[in-house]
Amino acid sequence: MTDRIDPPIATPRETVTVELYRFDPDTDAEPRFETCTVPMERQMRVLDALDHLYEQQGKDFAYRWYCGTKRCGMCGVSVNGRPQLSCWEPAEASMRIEPLPHFPVIRDLVVDFSANEQQLIGLHPIIERRDPYLRFPEPVTPDRMANHYKLMACIDCRVCDASCSVLDRPETGGFAGPYALVQLAKAASHVYDAADRVPAILSTHIERCLSCGDCVTACPNGVPILTGAIDPLRDRLIERGVYHVRGWRIIKWLPMRLRSFLRCRLGWSLGEQIVPQGATDGR
Ligand code: SF4
Ligand code: SF4
Ligand code: FES
Repeated sequence: MTDRIDPPIATPRETVTVELYRFDPDTDAEPRFETCTVPMERQMRVLDALDHLYEQQGKDFAYRWYCGTKRCGMCGVSVNGRPQLSCWEPAEASMRIEPLPHFPVIRDLVVDFSANEQQLIGLHPIIERRDPYLRFPEPVTPDRMANHYKLMACIDCRVCDASCSVLDRPETGGFAGPYALVQLAKAASHVYDAADRVPAILSTHIERCLSCGDCVTACPNGVPILTGAIDPLRDRLIERGVYHVRGWRIIKWLPMRLRSFLRCRLGWSLGEQIVPQGATDGR
């Protein structure tokens, strides 16, 4: 006689509650949230919840992704107020999923980067050589390319821009945001770049950055936005005498640099900034 094997006891499946942002500017007067439920799966990502709603439940909403592996930078959304990549972050039991802030909504979770791209083109973030390209490989050392290489980890997701509180404030209009500064610093830090970057840096209103480090914390690829991009660009202005860090401002400047460094290493921050010569602190 064989032992009887009882069937597994059915347990109620855990679920994920999704408050989904819905908005079509062509037809809707106001955005609204649609509450949906998705069965929780093991190692479920935010993107899996969205896929389930679209593919299994037939919800006709717009969202964007391509690689599913933190490569293409297309899947950024805001989950419970935190901008992130939907293909990389774990699903939470209750998620309010919205489009990335600071960008116009095309539909539902899809935002428009066109204005951001135009602004970026205006900064001319490409390498300008003094001497013609000679041969491949060009002689460069790892040390001289180290910072440029770290900035190349950027996947153009704009999660950093979506996390930047300075871009929330209308009175700080004109600030290019961390993503554009990373692209500009990437070109400027290339060992063969010979362009005068000062006019472009000034046009970004880099002085409005608070060095809060929120963009660094949010960046899914660990790009050193402060120490690798914003601080070196500020240093160029200081070297050229466009910014003057002297007198009592040195007392502000040194802790700010220390904070930037610690922020990247330890996730620590305060909240200061340098002030351009002749400008006021009012932002
Ligand atoms: S710096 Fe980071 S957060 Fe910003 S666009 Fe690049 S990868 Fe995304
Ligand atoms: S460090 Fe500067 S660019 Fe980054 S989130 Fe703060 S204010 Fe924005
Ligand atoms: S789908 Fe490509 S980064 Fe998320």
